Amino acid sequence: MDLGLKDKVALVPASSSGLGRAVAMAFAREGAKLAICSRRQDAVDEVAGEIKSQYGTDVLSMDADLSNKDDVDKVLKSTLDTYGTIDVLVLNAGGPPPGTFDTLSDEQWYQAFELTMMSAVRLIRGALPSMQSKGSGAIVSMSSSSIKQPIPNLLLSNAIRAGLQGALKTLSDEVAGQNIRINTVIPGRIRTPRIVQLDAANAEKLGKSQDEITKASESAIPMGRYGEPEEFAEAVVFAASERASYMTGGVFQVDGGAVKSLW
Ligand SMILES: NC(=O)c1ccc[n+]([C@@H]2O[C@H](COP(=O)([O-])OP(=O)(O)OC[C@H]3O[C@@H](n4cnc5c(N)ncnc54)[C@H](OP(=O)(O)O)[C@@H]3O)[C@@H](O)[C@H]2O)c1
Repeated sequence: MDLGLKDKVALVPASSSGLGRAVAMAFAREGAKLAICSRRQDAVDEVAGEIKSQYGTDVLSMDADLSNKDDVDKVLKSTLDTYGTIDVLVLNAGGPPPGTFDTLSDEQWYQAFELTMMSAVRLIRGALPSMQSKGSGAIVSMSSSSIKQPIPNLLLSNAIRAGLQGALKTLSDEVAGQNIRINTVIPGRIRTPRIVQLDAANAEKLGKSQDEITKASESAIPMGRYGEPEEFAEAVVFAASERASYMTGGVFQVDGGAVKSLW
């Protein structure tokens, strides 16, 4: 199936590893031109090298801390200076730290707000004018199953991602008439370096093997396994594509059946 993404410009942030990396690779496979970034220039350059050698598409790789306004502005400016447009904007950043209500300071709340909410707001603000002048565009937010079913010990993520989803749903209504679509794809538990590290940390804390922890976690998922980053990436690329031309304001889960809610 031709997804209609050839030569489209896709900005995929937080893409040196995990889900962001897989999404960037999938856009490259479709022939899109990429702008990618993360805090580690060497790591994101490595991904750019893989993209170029595997798919031969243009890639701009930048270092940026997405919780920092100046860095986000720099990413937007470099992308627009290089390609002249942004056709697809992916919203992705590292997750906020874990914690329960009584353990989190004001500083941690503000920092998580900058990372999860304001990075998205600033990226959209910077990319929207180019989509509006072109008369088309797609924004895909990479969120979490926590917007449907809050996850224990992830209070910041639960609170701020849900707030962001409210903002995106509102905005999707405002820009739908301009042929700009906004959708959200939510991972359940996908086998990225972060998930592997979390399992290792839990194993150490509980005095069990990492394999035991992973197997227990997988057994709670109806499909009986973690997802692979590439499986998640396919949904993001489809939501951004011309084949999803009448889909906007939606939330699509890639979770092996883990979320228990109806909607
Ligand atoms: N994997 C899952 O099952 C799952 C489930 C629910 C939600 N999520 C969410 O999905 C997102 C991606 O998760 P992942 O599993 O792919 O994590 P990951 O494997 O740890 O990758 C995170 C990526 O984000 C970048 N990053 C982190 N903080 C950043 C910052 N402040 N500025 C710029 N880049 C930053 C990292 O690169 P640098 O270190 O180079 O900056 C890395 O490329 C996270 O928000 C996570 O909470 C994941």
